[in-house]
Amino acid sequence: MHDFHYGQGQLMCEGVSIASLIKKHGTPLYVYSQNTLTQHFKRLDQAIAPLDHMVCYAMKSNSNLSVIRTLADAGSGFDVVSEGELRRVIAAGGDPTRSVFAGVGKTAQEIQYALKQGVYSFNVESEAELERINKVAAGMKRKAPIAIRINPNIDAGTHAKITTGTYENKFGIAFEVVEKLYAHAAKLKNLHLRGVQMHIGSQLTEVTPFKKAIEKVIPLVEKLKRLYGIEFFSIGGGIGIVYKQALASGSERWWGSKESKNILTPELYAKALLPLLKPLNLRILLEPGRFISGNAGALISRVEYVKRTGKKNFVIVDAAMNDLIRPAFYDSFHEIVPVSAKGGKPVSSDVVGPICESGDYFCKDRPLPKVGEGDYLALLSAGAYGSVMSSTYNSRPLTAEILVHGKKHAVVRTRQKIEDIWRDESIAPWARNI
Ligand code: LLP
Repeated sequence: MHDFHYGQGQLMCEGVSIASLIKKHGTPLYVYSQNTLTQHFKRLDQAIAPLDHMVCYAMKSNSNLSVIRTLADAGSGFDVVSEGELRRVIAAGGDPTRSVFAGVGKTAQEIQYALKQGVYSFNVESEAELERINKVAAGMKRKAPIAIRINPNIDAGTHAKITTGTYENKFGIAFEVVEKLYAHAAKLKNLHLRGVQMHIGSQLTEVTPFKKAIEKVIPLVEKLKRLYGIEFFSIGGGIGIVYKQALASGSERWWGSKESKNILTPELYAKALLPLLKPLNLRILLEPGRFISGNAGALISRVEYVKRTGKKNFVIVDAAMNDLIRPAFYDSFHEIVPVSAKGGKPVSSDVVGPICESGDYFCKDRPLPKVGEGDYLALLSAGAYGSVMSSTYNSRPLTAEILVHGKKHAVVRTRQKIEDIWRDESIAPWARNI
C-alpha cells in the first residue's frame, strides 16, 4: 500500500500533484508520503500487537528529520548505527531510550554518548566490543544494557550485498559460540544482559528464512532467559517490499488480489512468526527500515535528452547514481513512470544519468512510454536507501526533499547550494604562494 497514484492522468502523492511540486521546487526531487510512512508503521505494529513489542524503525533507510518525527509521533522507537543517527533521533524529537544501537564498529566515543542518552540496548557484534562497552560503562559508573547479535547462519536468499545472517558476513556472533559469550558477559560488572538480537538480511520476500532462523535460535533464547533473565528478543528487520509494479500495489484492491498471495505482508509475517514468539514471553523488537520507508518515496527527474544510437534508445535524465545508487550498486529494479500519463506504444529504453560512468543507469532495455526533452519521470520505491545513500559525486548538489501530508507539502531538505559542496574544503596554504 502506498499513496502514489494517477489522478486525471497526473501522478499524485496523496492529494498533491507531482507536477505542481516540480514547478515549485525543480528536479531532481525526492517526494515522500507521510500517510504511507504512518500506515506502514501502524500496519506492522498492529499485526504484532498480540506480542509485547517495540518497533524500532531502522533509520538508516531514510533518516530525514521529518521522517523520524512522523514515525516517533506514530509511536516508533529507532534502530541507530552511529552517533550521528542517535543525534538525529534527538534532533527530531524522538526518544533515545526507545532506540537500539547496532553496528560492528562502535567507537568508544559513540558508546559513551549513547550510554549518556540512555539507549535501550547496544546490539553487540564481537567479544572485543563487549569488553569496550564494559570499560566505557565502568568509566561512567554505569551499567550498559546489551544484547548479543546472533548470526544464525541461515541464508536469507536475498542479494549478496544485503544478506547478513551467514558466516560469510561480518555480522553477529556465530550461533555456536553465543552461549559462551553470554557467560563471559555475565562476569563483566558494568553490563546488563538485557536481550538477544538477530538480523539475517534485507529485502526478504518470503517468510521462510525468518521462520527458519527463529526456530533455530529459540532454544538458545529460552536458555538465555532462564540463565540471565533477558527481557527482549529482537528479530531484526528485512521485510521486503514490492518494487515491480509498485504503482499497481498502491491500490487496496491489489492487496487482496491473487498476485498478493506471495507477497510478504505484515499479516503473513505475523501469522507465521507469532506462534513461535508468543510462548517465549519476552518483549519482541522489530527493526524494519525498507518496509516502512521504501514505497513511501519517489525520485522525480526531468528528461534532458533522448539519444538514439544504432542499437539503443537512451533517455538521459537529470537524476543520477549519486542521487539513487541502488541500480548501479545492487542492480536493483525501480519502477519508472511518467509524471503525466502517456499512451502509445512502449519503447525499449535505457534511462541514464549524466555521470561519467557506464554504471550510471536506472534501467536497461525496459519498455517505457515514449518520452522527450522536458518530460518528467518518477522512479518509484525510492524512499528507502535512496537519499540517505546519495553523494555529491561529480559535484552534483544533494537534492531537495519534500514531505507530503494530504493536500499540504513541506520542503524537508532544501536543495544543496553548489558552493556548499566545497564549503568545508580549502586550498593548502603553500599552494596559495605559488
Ligand atoms: N537491522 C539491522 C541490524 C540491519 O543491518 C538492517 C539493514 C536493518 C535492521 C533494516 O533492514 P530493512 O528492514 O531495511 O531491510 N542499502 C541496501 C540495504 C542495506 C540494509 C542494511 N541493513 C539497499 O539499498 O537495498
